[in-house]
Amino acid sequence: MRSLIDILELTTQEIDELIDVANDIIANPAKYSEKCHGKKLAMLFFEPSTRTRLSFEAAMYELGGNVLGFSEAQSSSSAKGESVADTIRTVSCYADIIAMRHPKEGAPFVATMKSRVPVINAGDGGHNHPTQTLTDLLTIKRKKGKLGGFTIGFCGDLKFGRTVHSLIGALSRYENVKMVLISPDELKIPEYLKEEVLDKKSIEYKEVTSLEQVMPELDILYMTRVQRERFYNEADYIRLKDSYILTPEKLTSAKSDLCVLHPLPRVNEISTAVDDDPRACYFDQVLNGKYVRMALIMKLLEVK
Ligand code: CP
Repeated sequence: MRSLIDILELTTQEIDELIDVANDIIANPAKYSEKCHGKKLAMLFFEPSTRTRLSFEAAMYELGGNVLGFSEAQSSSSAKGESVADTIRTVSCYADIIAMRHPKEGAPFVATMKSRVPVINAGDGGHNHPTQTLTDLLTIKRKKGKLGGFTIGFCGDLKFGRTVHSLIGALSRYENVKMVLISPDELKIPEYLKEEVLDKKSIEYKEVTSLEQVMPELDILYMTRVQRERFYNEADYIRLKDSYILTPEKLTSAKSDLCVLHPLPRVNEISTAVDDDPRACYFDQVLNGKYVRMALIMKLLEVK
């Protein structure tokens, strides 16, 4: 039995296979419509979500399976003080696979130790979000035709943005990926990522504060929201929240084939005026999330 807590638990070959399956689902959806007939996915969401939760649910329904679960901690017995361990022991009696989002880093990992069925980390605190990374990789592959040989800029909250942490880890295993880390000083990526990933793997990267300065060199721009829910101090959030706002004017110096990604939700960091620009790929990303989660559910359930 296999779970997915960290994107690095998948080899690059497995990621390639998941992307191939997702592309095949996109091309031939009817072929997959009964693959998970009789199977149940439990959704344990202790933190708000729109895309991850609903794309997992849509994924399981489109595979012919069923879904149960809760979308907020208050409607589960955790509101009465039940531990994550007991919740997981209980739910794994009812479901074949679990997707779990939790505000505490490591909670889905703890869940794997108590579960009788595979557990998928659907986002744990400021740590990791492996299925968003699969979504990002599928989108990059479909837009750029490859998973290496490009310069990617990560812009915004690189300190708390779990999607950034997962994607940096994943892309560090591909050839010739240059990274530009664009953030205010207070929201730089954590030191452990620099030491254990970027430096260890000799990734070419630089840290800057100006988006405009580096825009012309980017092939991919990964915008992120400042993660209000992870701040200890509201005043700091207010001061930093609008550090970067992508506008059509800022895109005038960008490459014509730039790919703008954002895991969403966005608040202010991409003007809606950018949405109709052909370089805006973030709603394609949303759709791709469903297909790659279908591929992942099949893999972890060992459905052929
Ligand atoms: N990208 C993402 O995780 O979005 P949600 O918080 O809406 O699931």
